[in-house]
Amino acid sequence: MKGVTDLMRRPFVAGNWKMNLTLAEARQLVGGLRERVAGRPPLDLAICPSFVLLFPVSEAIKGSPFALGAQDVYFQDKGAFTGEVSPAMLVDAGCTYVIIGHSERRHVIGETGDLLARKVRAAQKAGLHVIYCVGEKLEEREGNRTEVVLGRQIDEVFGPDVDLSRLTVAYEPVWAIGTGRNATPAQAQEAHRFIRNRLARVYNEGLAGQVRIQYGGSVTAANAGELMSQPDVDGALVGGASLKADEFAKIIEATIAAKGLK
Ligand code: PGA
Repeated sequence: MKGVTDLMRRPFVAGNWKMNLTLAEARQLVGGLRERVAGRPPLDLAICPSFVLLFPVSEAIKGSPFALGAQDVYFQDKGAFTGEVSPAMLVDAGCTYVIIGHSERRHVIGETGDLLARKVRAAQKAGLHVIYCVGEKLEEREGNRTEVVLGRQIDEVFGPDVDLSRLTVAYEPVWAIGTGRNATPAQAQEAHRFIRNRLARVYNEGLAGQVRIQYGGSVTAANAGELMSQPDVDGALVGGASLKADEFAKIIEATIAAKGLK
């Protein structure tokens, strides 16, 4: 395993803008974030705009604590793949991170484990840090299949050729995304522990203990503190609340406080 360091559990809060914001709105939001989150906060921060906003946002965040991430990527380097974007193009546009396997990609667009496994490897080969999303649907949780689903989503992508030092897992229960119904801190902790144990089966306990696992799904300023206090929750992947500068800044502050970073 290459380059595994003890920095890997550094808390990490990322905003997933999804298919939202015009260029003017994006610039305004970045301006608001720069006012509220200055200096060198003791955690990693990223924002993930749509493809068309990546380059202008990379310019807008220069000198701020925010890094840039994309919401998806294709696994080929270049060629006749109309509509797709390569890992090298993301790096060229200023990206450090890329989200892979978001539940909207899995369940709305129909992406499969095999495709996601290729995307993860291609993104890392280009030097990107991957945010790999996993999460069960409501009927899977209610049918007591959460662990089966999470285990499969881990097993079909991870292997010795995936570099854990450039990998964050995001646990995002599908029933909690955009619904206003977040997982309870205990539910999040239980799922995060399961994910960590599963990673230990693929790698080993020491390495699995170093992997950052974000929680995502209706994270707000009001619930972030409690969620982020859980021992296996290392940050948040925030959708709706990342579109409001004040709210997102408060989530970042709550994470810093919950992790005792001040
Ligand atoms: P939400 O989305 O915060 O709006 O629930 C989270 C996500 O999908 O990453």
